[in-house]
Amino acid sequence: MDRFYLTTPIYYVNDRPHIGHAYSTIAADVLARFWRRQLGDDRVWFLTGTDEHGAKIERAAEKAGKTPHAFTNEIAEAFRATWEKLGLNFNDFIRTTEPRHEKAVTAFLLALKDAATPKGNPAVFEGEYEGFYCTGHEAFMRENDLVDGVCPDHKIKPELVKEKNWFFKLSDFQEELGRLIETDELEIRPLARKNEMLNFIKQGLEDITISRPHVKWGIPVPFDAGQTVYVWVDALINYVSAIGYGEDRQRLAKWWPANLHIVGKDIAKFHCIIWPALLLAVGLEPPKKVFAHGFFTIDREKISKSIGNVIDPVELANRYGNDALRYFLLSEITFGEDGDFSEEKLKQVYNGELANTLGNYVARVAALAEKGGAISIPDREKFLATINETPTPFARAVAELRFHEALGFLWEELHAHDKELQEQELWKEGDEKVLRGKLFHHIEFILWLNHLLEPFLPDTYNKILEKVNISQNILRVKKGESLFPRIEN
Ligand code: MSP
Repeated sequence: MDRFYLTTPIYYVNDRPHIGHAYSTIAADVLARFWRRQLGDDRVWFLTGTDEHGAKIERAAEKAGKTPHAFTNEIAEAFRATWEKLGLNFNDFIRTTEPRHEKAVTAFLLALKDAATPKGNPAVFEGEYEGFYCTGHEAFMRENDLVDGVCPDHKIKPELVKEKNWFFKLSDFQEELGRLIETDELEIRPLARKNEMLNFIKQGLEDITISRPHVKWGIPVPFDAGQTVYVWVDALINYVSAIGYGEDRQRLAKWWPANLHIVGKDIAKFHCIIWPALLLAVGLEPPKKVFAHGFFTIDREKISKSIGNVIDPVELANRYGNDALRYFLLSEITFGEDGDFSEEKLKQVYNGELANTLGNYVARVAALAEKGGAISIPDREKFLATINETPTPFARAVAELRFHEALGFLWEELHAHDKELQEQELWKEGDEKVLRGKLFHHIEFILWLNHLLEPFLPDTYNKILEKVNISQNILRVKKGESLFPRIEN
């Protein structure tokens, strides 16, 4: 692999960012940092952004007493500001209301209109749709998905609509999609999601609508001025509009196909079925991989405005720090599975694994080394090789998004070194040479650990580097401030 293009979902701007949104974006940031170290900065492209069209946003703006334009500007800014406060280092932030995106969507729809399916039928046709539309999902729902006549996720009665639409002949892509997913040419992970998608395909794919006649807040269908592009089609195209679709072929060829779309499991079908089929229709490759993570609850409750448990990630980060939030989200919840978030647990993990383990260990080594003075490096080349080494099991765990395993691997090493340090009782050591030799070994370990931790704990990485000065063959350490001051109740 010579470059890595990764994306998060683009977030609806009907509401301000919450911890659920931060989850996907933080995971993507960890991966982007990891791949930048493996491949070099200019070979990684990390995209995030906001999904701003459609009836849901139109109504949220109305409710707020604002024009959709003013409203989306405000919330999109809140997303961008949140990511910046969390220290997330994306390469691009796309908004679907930007001209570059609107142009690309127009070009994509024109290409689709001209395209044929693998069975030789036109990819786009006109028809009439009658069904239940859930604005919360921005999607039509099957009658048997409803519970007591309401959408089980949004608890609202979907609207029965009968309208003229443009359709995409998704059903003709059934075999091709099945083959791509089965063979992992389009890799879907975790495996449970891959199987879910294959089962869904086996039940038979229905054609989907790609336009809406009565939604004003959207991109006009280029071949039918009376309709706007269905918001999910509009949104999915962001992954190519941001890298030059319809405008810059070279740039598109540099980054497409995406190496990884990170999504939540609720939107896996859009990314694993509809999106690849749309791409195949216009002659582009499907993404290489889609990873669908699980959902988390807060204190065992679904995150919802009406329950009032919506957590602002910035507030948490202000209290515990960006690194602690990253560490907690990725070490406590298996990426891909559902999990539960509680501030109490975050505090426990902070004090236990960060303050008492990592922080304390580094502080004790640094205090002894500061007191003991300069330490010479016996073999500089060997030392540099050691501190820059990336063990294969760790690299594989990160590359396969098994973040908790990657961190678990490092914490096992950390615990072993911590235990060793306690048993060595170095403060009693009378022989200077022995003391320095043993401290050298711990400092070398801290630098190695730090190099691997950088994608997960970027602020801590810099703090540790400030403590250790390496010049030629000499290590000088200063104790400095504590990495994770304990949080008392
Ligand atoms: N706009 C669409 C995505 C379009 S991508 C072309 C959308 N937006 S969303 O804002 O509703 O959700 C964005 C992401 O946040 C989804 O991946 C969703 O799974 C994730 N999460 C929202 N709530 C979440 C939790 N409670 N837990 C984990 N992830 C959650 O869908």
